[in-house]
This record gives sequence, C-alpha cells and structure tokens, in this order.
Amino acid sequence: MPAVGGFDKGTGKAYPGNLTPYVTVTCVVAAMGGLIFGYDIGISGGVTSMAPFLRKFFPSVYQKEALDKSTNQYCKFDSETLTLFTSSLYLAALLSSLVASTVTRKFGRKLSMLFGGLLFCSGAIINGAAKAVWMLIVGRILLGFGIGFANQSVPLYLSEMAPYKYRGALNIGFQLSITIGILVANILNYFFAKIKGGWGWRLSLGGAVVPALIITVGSLVLPDTPNSMIERGQHEEAKTKLRRIRGVDDVEEEFNDLVVASEASKLVEHPWRNLLQRKYRPHLTMAILIPFFQQLTGINVIMFYAPVLFKTIGFADDASLMSAVITGGVNVLATIVSIYGVDKWGRRFLFLEGGTQMLICQIIVATCIGVKFGVDGEPGALPKWYAIVVVLFICIYVSGFAWSWGPLGWLVPSEIFPLEIRSAAQSVNVSVNMFFTFIIAQIFLNMLCHMKFGLFLFFAFFVVVMSFFIYFFLPETKGIPIEEMAEVWKSHWFWSRYVNDGSYNGVELVKEGYPVKNV
Ligand code: BGC
Repeated sequence: MPAVGGFDKGTGKAYPGNLTPYVTVTCVVAAMGGLIFGYDIGISGGVTSMAPFLRKFFPSVYQKEALDKSTNQYCKFDSETLTLFTSSLYLAALLSSLVASTVTRKFGRKLSMLFGGLLFCSGAIINGAAKAVWMLIVGRILLGFGIGFANQSVPLYLSEMAPYKYRGALNIGFQLSITIGILVANILNYFFAKIKGGWGWRLSLGGAVVPALIITVGSLVLPDTPNSMIERGQHEEAKTKLRRIRGVDDVEEEFNDLVVASEASKLVEHPWRNLLQRKYRPHLTMAILIPFFQQLTGINVIMFYAPVLFKTIGFADDASLMSAVITGGVNVLATIVSIYGVDKWGRRFLFLEGGTQMLICQIIVATCIGVKFGVDGEPGALPKWYAIVVVLFICIYVSGFAWSWGPLGWLVPSEIFPLEIRSAAQSVNVSVNMFFTFIIAQIFLNMLCHMKFGLFLFFAFFVVVMSFFIYFFLPETKGIPIEEMAEVWKSHWFWSRYVNDGSYNGVELVKEGYPVKNV
C-alpha cells in the first residue's frame, strides 16, 4: 500500500536533511515493495490466458475456451478454481495485514520486511515449480501473506526514513511502483508466452523471486528507523542514526519531536474504540467507503483479467497480451500525471474528472460489446476497427482511474486520519480494500458469464454513486496542513454536526508540537 504517512505539510516545520545514500536505498526497497505487489496483480491474468497453462491446470476451462466452439463467449473462462488462483492472494493479504501490524509494532519494521521477503520467495518458487493446482494456490497464498507484511512495514519504514518534505511525493511514488510492477508483468507475459514448449508461465510466476530477494536482502542490510529505536528506549543510538540518515548534525528538533510523538502514541490506548466515537464518523466513513468505491470502479477487472477479457471479445492470443501491455503502459503514464497535478488541481477535481471519464468509457465499452455479442455471446467476425475502439476506450478508462481513484484512494485516507485513530483507521482502509479486491477477483468471470456486457454498466452505476458521494461528502484536502484538517470537517455542511463538539484530540496533539508520525 502506498505510504501511510504522506504528511509533508504536517506541522509546517522544515527539518534539515539531505537525500543521503541511506534514503536512496530506502526508496529502492520501497519501490520493490510496490513492484512486487503490482507484479502479482498483473501476472495472473496473462498466465491464465496461456493455453499450455490452462491445459495443464484447468483442462475443463481449456476445453471450453479452445475446443468447444459452441460455448457462449461470455462464459468461456467461468471457473471458480481459476478465479481462486487470482483471488486467494488478496484473502491471504487481508488476513496477514491484521497480524503484521502487531509484528511491525512489537518487533520492528525490519523483521516484518524480512518475513514478507521470505514469504514472497517461497511463494514465487512454489508457483514457478507448480505441478498441481494446489501448488498454485498455496504459492499465491504465501505471496499474499508476504504482501500483507510488506505493505504494512515498507510504507511505514519509508515514511519514517524519508526526509519530511518528500513524504507526499513518495506516497504516490509507491502507487507508481505498483503500476510499474503491473506493466513489467504484462510485458514479461507477452514474451514468455512465445517460448516454444509452453513452459513460459513458469518464468512469469517464478519471476517474482527477483524483487522478493531484493526485499529480503534489503531488510537484512538496512538500518532500523530512529522511530523504532526510540520506541524501544534506545535514545542515544537513535540520535546518532538520525544524523547519519539525514546527513547533517543539526537533528535536535526532529529528534525531540520523534520522542514526543512516540510518547503520544503510547498514550493512545484504544485506537479501535476511539474510531467508533461520534466525532470520528467522517473518518470511519471514508476509511470504509473510499477503498470500497475504489474497487467498485471495476479497475481490477482490467488489471487482473485484461488478457482474458480481450480473448473473450475475440482477440488472438498475442493481441490480447499486447493489449494488456498497452493498458499497463497507460496506467503508469497517467499515474505520473497525478503526481504532477494532485497538489495543483486538488483531490476533488481529479476524483470528479476521473469519474466522469470512467463513466463515459464504461458506457461506450458496454455498447461496443453489447452490439457485437448481443446476449447470447455470438460475435461473428470481428472487424479491426472494433478492436481498436475497445482498446482505445479501455485505455481512456484506465487513465481516468490512474489519475484519480488509483492514487487518491490511498492518499486521501492517509491524510485525514488524526494521530489517535491512525493505526486503526489505516487497518480498516487496507482491509476493506483487500476484501473487495478479493471479491472482484473471485466473482468477475462468473459475473461476466451472467451479466454479459451489462457488467460494465454495473460498474458504471457505482461510478455515478461514488462521484455523487465525493461531490457532496468529501471536502477538499489539498494544501490543508494536518493541524487544520479538523476545520474542513467543522465547516462542512454535513460532517459539521459530528465534529463540532470541540474535543478534537488529534489537532490538539499536533498544535502542541507533536509531529505527524505513524503509530
Ligand atoms: C488499487 C489496486 C489496482 C491498482 C491499479 C491500486 O490503487 O488499489 O487494486 O490494481 O491501483 O493500478
């Protein structure tokens, strides 16, 4: 997950510090965290569209897909074991992120990263060597556990090591590395599918071992964060470390703030109970609805199943994999647009613009598929212009997501949670996201079989709902310092009734000089 602490505007303080080699290495490891997550998102769709893979593990799907020409196109890939191969990872990630938060707090970030790395390595090896479906699923579950640990610890590590002023950029930088991971997976699938002998899928699945090894080795050689050392009472060592990380001697102010923040976080005894208080209703609502809506845009239908989808609508093997490479490339480029524009144009503008763009494209894609396939899924011959129009509008849809709900689905929650509920609210955010990612991955092929082209209208309906939700309920958070975040709720037409009781602890803590820190 992108960094939970993108609070560059934080207390308005400017601590001295440089981009030292330490910080650079930190960024590389963080990038690997995003990359491996993206790789796992992107790899399964391409692999499940490869005939040798299907023939070996899912012969009945292969039968329907390749041999039985009478089958309704929409239902070609409808198999629950096949979707379990993709979805099991997200269920495992959901479960392990709950455990990982305790491990990260009690034993430090490094140990969590090491765990994550080792789980990744074993998952990738089992997948690459798989001889039966159960090995595939066990491998995906191990990868999922790894993701739970890495996504919990890497962003935390990152936001504690990064100089204050780079945290916001690093937050979306993490999302960018997820999209790069998806693209790399799509490109590798394209080439590995061409390997004669049909064992290319082993390289695709086993390839995850490369970033996994980098995280594992990284976690062994990286230093502990000063925050983590302070938490364990090693104050002098922490100060020395901070000097080395920042590359300057004058770290007094930042160090003192870290100590104060650590004390403050110890005072937060019941983050879960806090979260249920009336004054945190806006935060709880956002922690649940933002990730829910992000998944209900339908983006992962494209990210997980683009090659399968393209094959369903009649593309040849090679063209399907190539189209996934194109949508993956658009995803990366549009995320860069978001990094550029998020503090200029604001969150609400991007959310609403992205929503409108996605809506229009979903309606066009549904119409194209509906016209060509009807309800019984019989396409006849597919003209080239048709393929071009579908890919074009899917690309415009993906770019709409990639500069709105993609990065903002992580950035906005991370900047609105006050200190005393941050750990709990962030867990809710991640868990809801993983849960709905799992649901979409598991039921998409079945939904396609039953709802046919109407599936795109189903997601379009949610895009309308979420855009209204943003319009009426999400205040603009661009350029608002954390210590003033309470004001946006207090002056909001709807949320003011929940937060106007003047006891907004988070703000009080920050006003008294507590820096924003992950707890
Ligand atoms: C979402 C993922 C999605 C990815 C696509 C992320 O923000 O959480 O579910 O696959 O964006 O780039």
